[in-house]
Amino acid sequence: MTTRGWFISFEGIDGSGKSTQARKLADHLRNQGYEVVLTREPGGSPGAEEIRKLVLEGATDRWSPHTEILLFTAARRDHLERTIEPALAAGKVVICDRFADSTRMYQGLRGEDLRGLVDRLHTLMIGREPDMTLLIDMIPETGLSRALSRQGAEERFETFGEDLQTRMRKGFLTLAEAFPDRITVIDGDRPIDDVAAQIQTTVEARLHG
Ligand code: ADP
Ligand code: TYD
Repeated sequence: MTTRGWFISFEGIDGSGKSTQARKLADHLRNQGYEVVLTREPGGSPGAEEIRKLVLEGATDRWSPHTEILLFTAARRDHLERTIEPALAAGKVVICDRFADSTRMYQGLRGEDLRGLVDRLHTLMIGREPDMTLLIDMIPETGLSRALSRQGAEERFETFGEDLQTRMRKGFLTLAEAFPDRITVIDGDRPIDDVAAQIQTTVEARLHG
């Protein structure tokens, strides 16, 4: 049992299985006696959920890339202040469906030097990384068809298509190479329970180590 909080994030392209696996990991750890807060980005606090609607609904060109970076960072700051930090301070395990790596990829890859801007704003306004990140890797064709089959109003990013998802997948893998101590790559193109079993083993090794 941990005596301090533990912060785990899930990352990957749309439809890679993050939400499914985050839920399964939360159930598993609760069964082991951990107090778990399962949350997501954008969102995870009342204010950040309001910002979620602004960024995920409406026309693809609704916001400029710069404005979008500010909105995602504002949502993250509120989420951190109101939900994540209090839970960690109370010794809980926080499982977050996406965190700052998503902004590094989705906003950072969209234009010249935007990644630098994302990183600078992160240092200024967020200033922390998860203890552990599970990157669910997946071929974009599969992820996209899974994501599109869900349908709904939150489609600003999912309609960007396969090219962007391919660049993002590569970007996430490069990020994992840059932060090998924090990020573990999980092959998401397998049955749900196989993926879940590998995630449980990986997380338990870290929690108990
Ligand atoms: P994400 O949160 O990464 O967008 P979800 O967990 O919402 O992905 O999964 C997208 C869809 O794919 C859901 O309908 C889910 O039931 C399904 N799914 C998730 N993981 C798998 C898997 N390993 N194999 C087949 N279908 C999956
Ligand atoms: P999410 O609900 O996790 O979508 P999905 O289940 O399809 O993976 O996230 C919604 C969208 O928000 C997703 O397309 C990625 C995008 N996003 C960013 O562009 N930047 C960010 O910082 C975050 C957290 C999400």
